[in-house]
Amino acid sequence: MERLPEILLTDVEKDSLSHPEQIRCTAVTPEKSGEKETIIIDYGGANVAKPLHVGHLRAAVIGESIKRIKRFAGDEVIGDVHLGDWGLQMGLIITELHERKPELCYFDEAYDGDYPTEPPFTIAELEEIYPTASGKSKEDEAYKNAAMQATKELQQGRRGYQAILKHIMDVSVTDLKKNYDALGVSFDLWKGESDADPYIPDMVEKMKADGFAYESEGALVVDVSEPTDTKEIPPCMILKSDGAALYDTTDLATLIWREQDYHPDEVIYVVDKRQELHFIQCFRCAKKTGITPLDTKLIFIGFGTMNGKDGKPFKTRDGGVMRLEHLISDIGDKMYDKIMENGTMDEAEAREVSRKVGLSALKYGDLSNQASKDYVFDVERFTSFEGNTGPYILYTMVRIKSILKKYEEAGGSLSADMGSSILPPADESQHTLFNILMRFNAAMRGAYEENAPHRICAYIYELSNAFNHFYHETRILAETDEKRKLSYISTLRLTLMILEQCIDLLGFEAPERM
Ligand code: ARG
Repeated sequence: MERLPEILLTDVEKDSLSHPEQIRCTAVTPEKSGEKETIIIDYGGANVAKPLHVGHLRAAVIGESIKRIKRFAGDEVIGDVHLGDWGLQMGLIITELHERKPELCYFDEAYDGDYPTEPPFTIAELEEIYPTASGKSKEDEAYKNAAMQATKELQQGRRGYQAILKHIMDVSVTDLKKNYDALGVSFDLWKGESDADPYIPDMVEKMKADGFAYESEGALVVDVSEPTDTKEIPPCMILKSDGAALYDTTDLATLIWREQDYHPDEVIYVVDKRQELHFIQCFRCAKKTGITPLDTKLIFIGFGTMNGKDGKPFKTRDGGVMRLEHLISDIGDKMYDKIMENGTMDEAEAREVSRKVGLSALKYGDLSNQASKDYVFDVERFTSFEGNTGPYILYTMVRIKSILKKYEEAGGSLSADMGSSILPPADESQHTLFNILMRFNAAMRGAYEENAPHRICAYIYELSNAFNHFYHETRILAETDEKRKLSYISTLRLTLMILEQCIDLLGFEAPERM
């Protein structure tokens, strides 16, 4: 892609709209004023051995976009998946595996040879083992205790259990990567809760020695309440009475390696807003105990729930948890049917196009809402080519591409300097369009400062509407005044460039036609 033009007009006076020379298109990326920051974004949170489900969709989609926005502004950004790989779920899997295959060498404490390199389960088995174990543990006290014991032994380093964990990770991470890939989401770091484990013993000792951690009802805790609190903030739980690590523990110890390895200026967590209290506790504890420097910003971006049309958390038709890959393929199929109806594409192209358009429907449907709000997942609405949807934005872009292509086919060149070839607006539709084009920088700055991809959606929706209005009002290729025609073409190129940049920041792309 060509580099984005910086539009040097930020505070446009109405009058200046008649001076298009003020739209300068220089090949630079908007520079952020001030220092570039190092930012870690924690936006995966998938739990190994469990398939990605729609609950992880929002973290991935919103986090990916915020990562791209920060990078675009010039920050150094590191995305971390922060897998859930260290809790009771591991003990549950080990326990269930033990029930099924007690003969495996992993369970023989006397065994001191090498463990097999082949995992003792496939991804499909793994995904069945976990819910089965989880169900059993809720009904059977002894089973649950066994799972807790296994968790503890794993965390204390039992060799055979560590080997099982490694298998679980290998099998599961391969599958997770495939799924995040399909979503256009990527991470720089594939760390997990378990990577925090080596830092826990020293952290606990130091918290005790510094007088922050104390025993309460057998557990080790750190007070984090503050005199100005209007509601009670319970203490941070550092260790359970049996010495096992908790969710607070791994998040705190994770901040240790994040500080040690990256000295971030900011750590951003994109997590379900129902976890807010947990993060308030951890952030306070990290600052209080000196794990994180006081001037490091710890930011929690809590997102709302994705609901079904019934207003309840989104489920499959039979009430189960919808797997992310099914959601993606369902939307793709829907788009495929629509595209095949138009009948202009062969099957392979239609598949590829529907994948892109489907992803735009899914991501835009999510990102166009303010993250903290719940929203209704409405496939019909999200996949519509009309209204405030991803496909509508792509449709606008494809329309521009097709005009530019026709222009080129008729001998026109797309190399004119955009800034100097754009003439003053000749009517109200051009006036409005120019006005919006010139707000690009302001929109980007707003999205950056507020960590708000929805600001980009609002901007491109307005831009697309203004463009389509201009398109209906104007005979572009039929224009006989060559200078004016060139001005239109430059306006089209500028609009397309801005839209391309914006959808890239949202994490999806446009096909050539649809
Ligand atoms: N694995 C967690 C869950 O599924 C989310 C992790 C979010 N990130 C974090 N650093 N706690 O609820």
